Amino acid sequence: MGNGLDKRIERFMNWMKREQIELALITTPTNVYYLTGFYTNPHERFMGLFLTVTGDVFLIVPELDKNQAIEKSGLSSVLGYSDSEGPDFIIEKMVQVNRNTRMGIEQGNINYKTVLWLQRLLQVENFLDLESGFNELRLIKDETEIKFLQEAAHFADRAVEIGIQSLKIGKSELEIIAEIEYQLKKQGIERMSFDTMVLTGKKSALPHGKPGKDKIQEGDFVLFDLGVVFNGYCSDISRTVVMGTPSEEQRKIYTIVKQAQQMAINAVKPNISIKQIDLSARNYISKAGYGEYFIHRTGHGLGLDVHEYPSIHEKNEGILKEGMVFTIEPGIYVPQVGGVRIEDDVIVTRNGVRVLTSFTKELIQIGM
Ligand code: CO
Repeated sequence: MGNGLDKRIERFMNWMKREQIELALITTPTNVYYLTGFYTNPHERFMGLFLTVTGDVFLIVPELDKNQAIEKSGLSSVLGYSDSEGPDFIIEKMVQVNRNTRMGIEQGNINYKTVLWLQRLLQVENFLDLESGFNELRLIKDETEIKFLQEAAHFADRAVEIGIQSLKIGKSELEIIAEIEYQLKKQGIERMSFDTMVLTGKKSALPHGKPGKDKIQEGDFVLFDLGVVFNGYCSDISRTVVMGTPSEEQRKIYTIVKQAQQMAINAVKPNISIKQIDLSARNYISKAGYGEYFIHRTGHGLGLDVHEYPSIHEKNEGILKEGMVFTIEPGIYVPQVGGVRIEDDVIVTRNGVRVLTSFTKELIQIGM
């Protein structure tokens, strides 16, 4: 396998050794992709990558995914099963276990039905969790991953630009979203990293608001929060603009968020505690008198998942390391008035920080 993927499997196996896990079954599409380079969403069908601590690797996929799995993964052992046979026979044949085998699964991502089925099929009694292994490995991004994340960030910049260009009094939030996604698909983007958010007016004060037919009006804040997936890697950007001339308070809120976000970015460098990034933004917003309106953490890790480690919150004592990638996205949400969030994706470099998203953060006044 190229692209250092064999190294990833080797590192995962070393982690298994440390944890005394003899057999691992990986079923999450992103983790299978991380280790093999093959991505598929098998929906209700079973797909699993089995790794043994002694070095065996085999991937079991639905027959219809088999050729692609062989091509993309370069694994020498890819086994397909038909819809009529199901995977039981192959698994029983390939997997040697007994009830004392220390077998790892992704506890947070596997459903109860599958666990019962595995117990019945393999007679294993207790399952260990693989999650911390993946958290550890995926936390630090390698060169290839950084390239994909940077590209995903470029497309996020482009998406915000398209959204802002299509803003017009009287258009609905959903119309703007349709325009953004239509243009991106034309440029070859297969999917967004989460449901695109465009919120106008009072709804901009709802960090998890749901876009709808609400029409954009003069004086509204319009908040964009979106991201794209590029080669499996996610971006996530937020920008807030104002329709027409901002009120005194709108300008004030915007300026505070922008400054707080910049202070958090400036704080990023290796070997500081993660909470310091959150506190840089949070303390500034609190001192400005809006602390009670900043109601979420400052950011989250970014990679194959749009939310992964590290979590940038005020109690995280973890240490920042070169190669970590995460968002910085403070916000102020004043009910009935509106909200502002500004979000960039950043990577920790050897000496400091590199910001992957680059769309302007000056307050844009639409139609002025
Ligand atoms: Co985010």
